[in-house]
Amino acid sequence: MEFPTLSFTPASLGPRDAYRLLISVLVPRPIAWVASQGADGSVNLAPFSFFGGVGNYPPTIMVAIGQRQGRPKDTLRNIQETGEFVVHIVDETLAPAMNVTSGEYAYEVNEFELAHLATVPSLEVRPPRLAAAPVALECKVSQLVPVDGTTYTMVLGRVLHFHVREGLLRPNGLVDADLLRPVARLGGDEYATLGAVFEMQRPPA
Ligand SMILES: Cc1cc2nc3c(=O)[nH]c(=O)nc-3n(C[C@H](O)[C@H](O)[C@H](O)COP(=O)(O)O)c2cc1C
Repeated sequence: MEFPTLSFTPASLGPRDAYRLLISVLVPRPIAWVASQGADGSVNLAPFSFFGGVGNYPPTIMVAIGQRQGRPKDTLRNIQETGEFVVHIVDETLAPAMNVTSGEYAYEVNEFELAHLATVPSLEVRPPRLAAAPVALECKVSQLVPVDGTTYTMVLGRVLHFHVREGLLRPNGLVDADLLRPVARLGGDEYATLGAVFEMQRPPA
């Protein structure tokens, strides 16, 4: 059976609507809440949901960061300057603070202070990590890839150190998603919490 379908080209939609449509179908997206630090010591914290895992070992993640008024966003500038960052997972309790840090503040603004978020020194990178985060991944840049035709840069980062809050890790080595309570980004300003968790064994062949 074939369903009636609405079809569009990006050109017929234009940049704004093509972006809005794209992010409303790539759902739910995990949120990388990224701490970074510039060469002058400026500290920054901001969320990014063009985020995913791209390699197993060494564990490697990707965050795609755009521009603001023709210049790299503060997080990208810091990462370009120092090559280090920390990705935090946002849980339900942290969602309002995460949203506060998404404002387009001046470079000098420290969003940890703005959102009254305490920090802990990282072990292997200069940017601090967020004390209240259930999971933090200390990362070192492995590649910075300009995304052809867009204003985005894909930041590939190697995870140097995992931090997982006690009580979240099950004996089988997996974080318990029901205890983690991650928040995901949908389209527009919509977010989601985790629904029912179910299991499927992969076919043996
Ligand atoms: C949940 C969420 C996800 C976001 N994802 C992205 C993203 O993937 N890429 C991006 O460039 N901006 C994204 N933004 C917007 C940035 O967070 C925003 O531009 C922020 O001000 C950037 O901060 P900075 O200039 O301090 O780096 C997102 C915002 C929110 C609230």
